[in-house]
Amino acid sequence: MKTSTTLELSQFAEDVLNGLSSTPKTLSSRYFYDDEGTRLFQQIMQLPEYYLTRAELKIFAEQKEAIGEAFTSGADAIDLVELGAGDGTKTAVLIDHLLKKSVDLTYSPIDISQEANDVLSQRFRSQFPDLRINPHTGDYFKVLGSLKNSNGRRKVLLFLGSNIGNFLQERALDFFGQLRSMMNAEDRLFVGFDMQKDPRVIVAAYDDAQGVTAEFNLNLLRRINRELGGDFDTSKFSHYAQYRPAECAARSFLISREKQTVSINALNSTFDFEQWEAIFMEISQKYTHPMIEEFAEKSGFEIEKEFFDAENFYLDSLWRPSQNRER
Ligand SMILES: C[S@@+](CC[C@H](N)C(=O)[O-])C[C@H]1O[C@@H](n2cnc3c(N)ncnc32)[C@H](O)[C@@H]1O
Repeated sequence: MKTSTTLELSQFAEDVLNGLSSTPKTLSSRYFYDDEGTRLFQQIMQLPEYYLTRAELKIFAEQKEAIGEAFTSGADAIDLVELGAGDGTKTAVLIDHLLKKSVDLTYSPIDISQEANDVLSQRFRSQFPDLRINPHTGDYFKVLGSLKNSNGRRKVLLFLGSNIGNFLQERALDFFGQLRSMMNAEDRLFVGFDMQKDPRVIVAAYDDAQGVTAEFNLNLLRRINRELGGDFDTSKFSHYAQYRPAECAARSFLISREKQTVSINALNSTFDFEQWEAIFMEISQKYTHPMIEEFAEKSGFEIEKEFFDAENFYLDSLWRPSQNRER
């Protein structure tokens, strides 16, 4: 890496600079979701190989009665707050059910993508004209503070799509610990976990035959070109996904097909790639039940109720703040 001057950099620019200067090179998957990335992710969710969305949707469709009871048990009114809501298709199933049960409900989807929030808000406003919906476009790390306000209603935080699997373990614990410190005793956290299963099923979900996941990863290079004046030639990179069963972790990489130099104007820098050098793009952690129990305990929660699909492919787990530990 060669940088000629010191620059005032945006967070995105700074993270790209740090990531491409480290060994191995890395780019943070949180930047996947510009508007184009959001559109590509909607396509991924429809792919035959991407079982995660279907499994979670099935849990919601088949167990909405029990999930609704668990959300509302002991509470007169609930505020659903969804972190990284995406298109909200799965959440709509729960909201529809809760409204039919005349639950006093508000819904606050938070997403970093304006496109995702616009699509969701438009759909939900026509599908649920009576729902009080407060969409927020922004980074969920930055709205954590506002969750603390207690209005006497139970907050149920939704973190679906096995999104937590995209955090390295230490950061995941830290994030849930922060959520815990913002929650009141009656609040709940509802988390989607993708479970350990046949490695072949998992690796296919991150390496689909149509190449949409490859485009999703390459879009981050295009985003750097668009927003930071980069000159990545995406035809010189290929997507590679692997799953390591002993670690329960799927990882995605972009591989430089040849020796090349990429320049990024906003960083005033160039980056050298060796032939076959990898950029680490994303981890998608899979879980065993003991891992989830340990995760809840270490981040200050108790598991209240669990909802598996019939194949045990996926788990939605409802957590309450643990009372024997003040964080
Ligand atoms: C893997 S998708 C999951 C979408 C949805 N929860 C689901 O289960 O289908 C992740 C979503 O989180 C959003 N997102 C990613 N990082 C975010 C952040 N730091 N703050 C807010 N939203 C974020 C993305 O824009 C995207 O819509």
